[in-house]
Amino acid sequence: MTQRSTSLIHHAYQPPAGFESPVLPVHKGSSIFLPSVAALRRTSWKDRDGYTYGLHGTPTTFALESRIAELEGATHALLAPSGLAALNLVNQTLLASGDQLCIPSNVYGPSRASARHDLARWGVQHAVYDPLDAESLRAVITPQTKLIWLEAAGSVTLEFPDLLGLIHVAREAAPQAVVALDNTWGCGLAFDAFALPGGLAVDLTIHALTKYPSGGGDVLMGSVCTRDETLFARLATAHGRSGLGVGANDVELVLRNLPSLALRYAAQDAAARRIAQWAQQLPGVAQVLHPALPNSPGHAHWAQTCRAAAGLVSLRFAPEVSASQVEASVDALQLFRIAWSWGGPVSLAVPYELAGIRDGAQGTVLRLAMGLEDPQDLMDDLANALRIIR
Ligand SMILES: Cc1ncc(COP(=O)(O)O)c(C=O)c1O
Repeated sequence: MTQRSTSLIHHAYQPPAGFESPVLPVHKGSSIFLPSVAALRRTSWKDRDGYTYGLHGTPTTFALESRIAELEGATHALLAPSGLAALNLVNQTLLASGDQLCIPSNVYGPSRASARHDLARWGVQHAVYDPLDAESLRAVITPQTKLIWLEAAGSVTLEFPDLLGLIHVAREAAPQAVVALDNTWGCGLAFDAFALPGGLAVDLTIHALTKYPSGGGDVLMGSVCTRDETLFARLATAHGRSGLGVGANDVELVLRNLPSLALRYAAQDAAARRIAQWAQQLPGVAQVLHPALPNSPGHAHWAQTCRAAAGLVSLRFAPEVSASQVEASVDALQLFRIAWSWGGPVSLAVPYELAGIRDGAQGTVLRLAMGLEDPQDLMDDLANALRIIR
């Protein structure tokens, strides 16, 4: 089988005769000319097999959709203006008043806020489960459960969930529910969400293409992928009615960076592992959170499921280290920049107070997202900045 790193470069696109080059052209258009009124009447945006209006697809957006579907091992993809918009598209498509959704306790923050506020206002209840304990999911499932979100790994504390156990419980206890995974960390490269060990699979994934697929720290975009035709039809209809357009130039940037995706991901994975190993001896660091470290939460689940580990590593500080000491260290960093997100060329650092983001958790965590700098330079930068704590 062709590896994804190869198929992202050698793809099915047919260039115009005599003009083959490494990149795809950028097609723009809100208005798309149709040859006759009969053609206007005949074509529907819902079919997604032709062009009707820019919002509903261009050769450029369809090319990226098919590339992202291939990356994730799905058959269909939809693009959204951000990862968060993709998440909300799924919620909006699959949930109605009276339904319940389940989210992990380490879920991406804005997802939790949306469940607490917007979805609650629309009469949708949510329940929180422990991603490391599949039985805790079983305990909160009800006949009203229609959507179960998984996130692998948690994006700040990097616990790798019991993915296989959770999907197994979901299938057994909530056959009526759709199982959705935030696949941003795994990126289609660390594991196959649609072909997991034991014949398990999720029903759909969302992906913040803003991170690794964009790779530049300059594009916001998201996707929803599935292999399920019926589910795709529901999602595509809701997508078409929601006005979730993406700009052709942004799509071009993602298309342009896909051929280097696997290399960038591998480089950032290697840098994160090297820094994770090294950081364990840093003064004031109580625990290094990285799924490939044997003492990191969920390591066994990661080892069971994954062949790679993305470029995030978090440092949990000892209780005697104050939040202001950590903040002063972060301010002293030179190469790591203080910014949200990950997957771009520049390494990023964000300190988090666990009390605000994890029920019952305390202390300060510093999340580091690897860029593409030399790992030794990054370690020197960290060692220098963290001297404040010593
Ligand atoms: C795990 C995860 N999912 C989704 C998102 C949302 O992506 P976006 O920033 O494109 O809205 C993020 C963004 O940080 C994220 O970390």
